[in-house]
Amino acid sequence: MSEKDNFEPVIVGFLCNWCSYRAADLAGTSRIKMPPNVRDIRVMCTGRLDPVFVLKALREGADGVLVMGCHPGQCHYVEGNYKTMRRMALLKRTLRQFGLEDERVRLEWASAAEGPKFAATVTQMTETIRELGPLNWKQLLGGNGHFRPVLEPELEEVAA
Ligand code: FES
Repeated sequence: MSEKDNFEPVIVGFLCNWCSYRAADLAGTSRIKMPPNVRDIRVMCTGRLDPVFVLKALREGADGVLVMGCHPGQCHYVEGNYKTMRRMALLKRTLRQFGLEDERVRLEWASAAEGPKFAATVTQMTETIRELGPLNWKQLLGGNGHFRPVLEPELEEVAA
């Protein structure tokens, strides 16, 4: 039996309070079926999400990170999600250089009314990561897996 056979992905979901967190709630109260693999963390806006949070989640054992926010043009703080779009693109580019599969970090939009979309995204991402297998972060970064010494210059660019 391989490591993948019993593998249950752990996904950390950073969800915007005003939209995708409510979409998650709606999916739950509507009893839409979805896997229980995403651990939700509510943020007031995806713009509040420091890219370091994503790295910390991966370092602490997440196999993937899902960031969900308000649709472009609908951010309650005007341009928080545009900043997130840019930061996530840079972060993903950096992580790609270390060999992290693109599918492990995902940015999506969902309004408060999009419970089905939330459930579909969670289902799809769980299946994709199940296929990829567990993330071996320490092997990826080397040493004790701490990202600061390795990624410091890139982090400055990403957070700017
Ligand atoms: S308030 Fe939802 S992404 Fe900014």
